[in-house]
Amino acid sequence: MEKQQKSRHLVLVMLPLQGHITPMLQLATILHSKGFSITILHPEFNSPNPSDHPEFTFVSIPDKLTKSQLSDNDVAGFMQSLNKNCAAPLQQCLNKVLASYGHIAAIIYDTLMFCAQAIADHLRLPGMTLRTSSATTLLFYTVFPELDEKDFISKIESPELEALQLQRFRSLLSHNPTEAMVEVRAAFTNAVMSTSAIIVNSMEFLEQEALSKVKKLVPAPIFTIGPLHKLAPTVCCSLFTEDDKCISWLNNQAPESVIYVSFGSMAGIDKQELIEAAWGLANSELPFLWVVRPGMVGSSEWIELLPNGFRESVGQRACIVQWTPQKQVLAHAAVGGFWSHCGWNSSVESICEGVPMLCKPFFGDQVLNTSYICNVWKIGLELHELERGNVERRIKRVMVDMEGKEMRKRAMELKKDAVVCLMKEGSTSCCLNDLTNQISLSSV
Ligand code: UDX
Repeated sequence: MEKQQKSRHLVLVMLPLQGHITPMLQLATILHSKGFSITILHPEFNSPNPSDHPEFTFVSIPDKLTKSQLSDNDVAGFMQSLNKNCAAPLQQCLNKVLASYGHIAAIIYDTLMFCAQAIADHLRLPGMTLRTSSATTLLFYTVFPELDEKDFISKIESPELEALQLQRFRSLLSHNPTEAMVEVRAAFTNAVMSTSAIIVNSMEFLEQEALSKVKKLVPAPIFTIGPLHKLAPTVCCSLFTEDDKCISWLNNQAPESVIYVSFGSMAGIDKQELIEAAWGLANSELPFLWVVRPGMVGSSEWIELLPNGFRESVGQRACIVQWTPQKQVLAHAAVGGFWSHCGWNSSVESICEGVPMLCKPFFGDQVLNTSYICNVWKIGLELHELERGNVERRIKRVMVDMEGKEMRKRAMELKKDAVVCLMKEGSTSCCLNDLTNQISLSSV
């Protein structure tokens, strides 16, 4: 009843993957605190738990995803099917929400749920998009598809962006794209070019040069309102069960002595890579907290493929868990470095706690984020070859050497900049005000 009395109603459309669910629920929480009522439409797969968020209305959309679509590593194929299967039920659902609330101020969708933009256009409602990765990724989708190398460089590259080595990310995107990739990128670009606002979980100072380029290329205003997790710190949205025992283990470690290792919610490694990572960590002689998700290593269930003698050799110096409360871990005084796959959320979370990184990107934007971390912000080191000697040396460079201490200093500076963004006159606060104003204006 209370929900219906509010005049400003928003519909949020979620992409059902951890790295996307989290920022969408954080955004929902922030906008709710600004006086908007919220309905969240989400595919059946990886449904959030409504009882964790009693302030929102949740509606599940049939996604008709098959077991093979869910288990394949074909991310673009997954996005393509998800959008195709969800488009019609999404529209029906939006019609029902419209009928019951009388008005929707805006439809805010994850950019990878791009089918929502066409539906918003059809219903003559403002469609706005949440990009859960960096604003820089927008450069590739907006100018990428038709351009040859020379045009691409002249349009995107600038001396300031040279350090980012955008070419590397671009070659990755253009290397043998599947039909699904080409279609998904075109649909993504279409959505970005026709949306009425782009919301990014980033901070202006992090990607200033690229942001000014993106702003020239896309018609919609861009609102950098990150770090979302600092604006909505209590949002609970883990698809996996957090193991709190790692916090008591961290409590017993010396300050800045622990290397935290996590490859996010999707990346996987094979048995040999597990063995090399394990011995690299063991031989570094440093304490480590390692997240091994069930199913992360080939076809194994959990850590049964760890090499013989490894557990004995590391003893209490190691804490291996299936999932951590990561933000709490990164904020812990015992954590001195983060060996990460460099998903955007993990990268932003690490910056916000001033933790230097060892970067092992696996796919997609992780490569671009690594470039930012190592070449632009200079708060991390890339790990190219997952080989034990290399792992050991690189961990020591980040954790022990002068080089690592310099990285930590720069990371601490970025942490301070992030705090400034959140202050009253900071860029995030200003963007958030502008965003809520735009939504309010479009809803009258
Ligand atoms: C995916 C893609 O891999 C990434 O490149 C893209 O930027 C977003 O979508 P994911 O693998 O989930 O992301 O990584 P990331 O973006 O870093 O998000 C992982 C989230 O899970 C973070 O918010 C992190 O705090 C959380 N997490 C991770 C935990 O809470 N506990 C863990 O043990 C590991």
